[in-house]
Amino acid sequence: MSIVTSPSGPAANARPFLHGPELAAIGRVLQSGQYGHGPETDAFELELADYLGVDDVVAVSTGTAALHLALLAAGVAPGDEVIVPSLTFCACIQAILATGARPRFVEVDPRTLCVTAEHIQAALTSAIRAVMPVLYGGRAIDLTPVRDQLADRDIAVVEDAAQAFGSVNGDHFVGATGDLTCFSFDAIKALTCGDGGAIVPRNPAEADALRRARSLGVTATREERVRTVSYQVSTLGFRYHLSTLHAAIGRVQLANFDKVAGRRKHLWRRYATTLTGVPDVVMIDLDVANTVPFNCVVRIPARVRDAVHARLHAARIQAGVHYPPNHLQPAFDRRSYTLPATEAVAAEILSLPFHPDLTDADIDHVAAKLAAVVAAEHHALGHRDAVGAAPQKGR
Ligand SMILES: Cc1ncc(COP(=O)(O)O)c(C=O)c1O
Repeated sequence: MSIVTSPSGPAANARPFLHGPELAAIGRVLQSGQYGHGPETDAFELELADYLGVDDVVAVSTGTAALHLALLAAGVAPGDEVIVPSLTFCACIQAILATGARPRFVEVDPRTLCVTAEHIQAALTSAIRAVMPVLYGGRAIDLTPVRDQLADRDIAVVEDAAQAFGSVNGDHFVGATGDLTCFSFDAIKALTCGDGGAIVPRNPAEADALRRARSLGVTATREERVRTVSYQVSTLGFRYHLSTLHAAIGRVQLANFDKVAGRRKHLWRRYATTLTGVPDVVMIDLDVANTVPFNCVVRIPARVRDAVHARLHAARIQAGVHYPPNHLQPAFDRRSYTLPATEAVAAEILSLPFHPDLTDADIDHVAAKLAAVVAAEHHALGHRDAVGAAPQKGR
């Protein structure tokens, strides 16, 4: 059933999508009695690697954990700086801070909400140890113009592909381009484990280090620990493994992923068609031919954005703002940044309801309502402006 017209509340902005067999898969794992890291997790890793066309994938508990471990694997340490767009989910910044490093906030291209090679180039200093391009909405980022400079300075690319599983970068899937790549499989992602994440390592040694770090730094496997009287903690580590219960959901999702990818592309294109030509509404370009869309974001004039958001909410359509800029967050504002492009576009964006359960009729309904409330707000604002201007004229 479509939730856009659901009587139970406002239309969800995003929600999990299940294919059906997930329930039986969890039942099997519950009966197996092995809920921590286990055979389901190992199988999920192999299947992810096979899907992406890479040698190895390390599964972890969340996308945030993936970013934290990948930064550590890239050698990011206290005193370092990591280039990151301010317009991203706060998880990126928390992961950087967890290593003891500092974020070096940069602008995004207002057309795509992604950083460009030029933004990164302009922010390079001797303190930079890594860059974290965020694949906003699932769109791949071409870093070719800055690759040589990054390599010369030994700066790692830790790609935040939390929203980009299944998207394509050139001739490869995102994740198969040679960079440390992090995915999220949280509840609303195109591939969900309920909660989960994964890292594509750059080489076998890095994969080993990541596997130790996700298991509290313990060297022995679970089987070895059962057989012996002790175990060794060989490095700093965290409890970041992916449970078999979550992996079982992920395996079903992966087996059905192409269907959901096609559905997301279709829905995004439907929004694009219905919103084309609507005055004052511009879609963020996701390069849909190469992207499995995570969201559908529009820009509308800042002076009407908040009122449009409120009117949509009143019409039971839940729009969102992804994201409030991180350089303005009290926890992260460590320097006085001025990022005018980011601040301007953050005041314009609205994420429309977007998930595979939506129907074409839902999309048309949301698009028509959006067009109507933008026009109504403009009209109201024009009227208020005129009223406000009247005394001025009289002076
Ligand atoms: C861009 C981005 N980075 C990181 C994350 C963190 O992933 P998780 O929620 O799995 O920890 C998310 C999740 O929404 C995200 O969208």
